[in-house]
Amino acid sequence: LANGVARTPPMGWNSWNHFQCNIDERTIKTTGTVFFCSVFKIDFWRFLFGFWVTADALVSTGLAALGYIYVNIDDCWGEETRDWKGSIRAKASTFPSGIKALADYVHSKGLKLGIYSDAGYRTCSKKMPGSLGHEEQDAKTFAEWGVDYLKYDNCYHDGSKPQDRYARMSYALRKVGRPILYSICEWGQEYPAKWAGLYGNAWRTTGDIKDAWESAISIADQNNIWGRYAGPGRWNDPDMLEVGNGGMSLEEYRSHFSIWALMKAPLLIGCDVRSASHETLRILGNKEVIDVNQDPLGVQGRKIRAKDGLEIWAGSLSRKRVAVVLWNRSGSRAPITVGWREIGLSPYNPVIVRDLWAHSFVSMRKRYGLTAYVASHACKMYILTPS
Ligand code: DGJ
Repeated sequence: LANGVARTPPMGWNSWNHFQCNIDERTIKTTGTVFFCSVFKIDFWRFLFGFWVTADALVSTGLAALGYIYVNIDDCWGEETRDWKGSIRAKASTFPSGIKALADYVHSKGLKLGIYSDAGYRTCSKKMPGSLGHEEQDAKTFAEWGVDYLKYDNCYHDGSKPQDRYARMSYALRKVGRPILYSICEWGQEYPAKWAGLYGNAWRTTGDIKDAWESAISIADQNNIWGRYAGPGRWNDPDMLEVGNGGMSLEEYRSHFSIWALMKAPLLIGCDVRSASHETLRILGNKEVIDVNQDPLGVQGRKIRAKDGLEIWAGSLSRKRVAVVLWNRSGSRAPITVGWREIGLSPYNPVIVRDLWAHSFVSMRKRYGLTAYVASHACKMYILTPS
């Protein structure tokens, strides 16, 4: 959708993968002492206090400076019912300051606020109303609060076509006079890649991700087939990141992150950034990999070749460069070879090979192709620049 936002894939954080319904404004926003500490960057307090605010953590970890600017509240933020005017409202027990105050706070940190609703009568948790039949009213409310991003889920609807239900919110958002990134969470059921780009900035291509290796590889494959529909302003969404949630090894998380970046997926952190380990932050904070995701050309990388769990994924970047991932899904360490010809480069032209995880140049003049040994469930990621 050409509404001026998401010219590159959205980046930020979302509460669902780690917290599900256990969210409150203190998870996101800070008060009193913690605020004081964050201003003076006293990281010591982070360990003393049981919680650290996510918005502050995005800034203090440096993730915000790398582009992770959306702080997205998922399901369960609202009161069970609408108020007497029919307006949707924040749950008083968990968001007592209200969403407007939260948006102001997040904006004061240079970040943006995302919220969640549903193209049905209830959200998936069933704990709050959806926006079906209230599209204009809710879009207005979100805009008044200063919301910058809407994730729109697909539970408990009236059985009508998602094209219609998602279009209605899209038109409503266009009327509110505030650019709001619109993320269509339809789970790929009616092949949203084929229609959702008209209405929204991203669309889910699959069911929910789980914090498990099998889930990550199956979702990568399902998302891969829609590659040609992606581009600036319109992205396939293979769901949010699980990096840092504990269910996969570091190599597996590195593969998950590399492939999501290459596929131009929204990079929405799904762990608790307040307590993320250094290893987790090193993965999420790999600027060279993020730069592939945020490349202005906006071409989704795809699977080029696969045999016995040894896979080559690649995609074009601006300035005639190519990003390549050599991904070993097999159970043992193995060599993977890529030829320049199969990824659209001339075999005779020497290329500069940059390793994005080792942060080093492998070669300044490499012809024909290259072979790398890749550990089980790990990957190598390169940028190739024709010299
Ligand atoms: C289903 C979505 O796919 C998830 O990402 C999450 O938003 C939940 N619903 C919330 O109920």
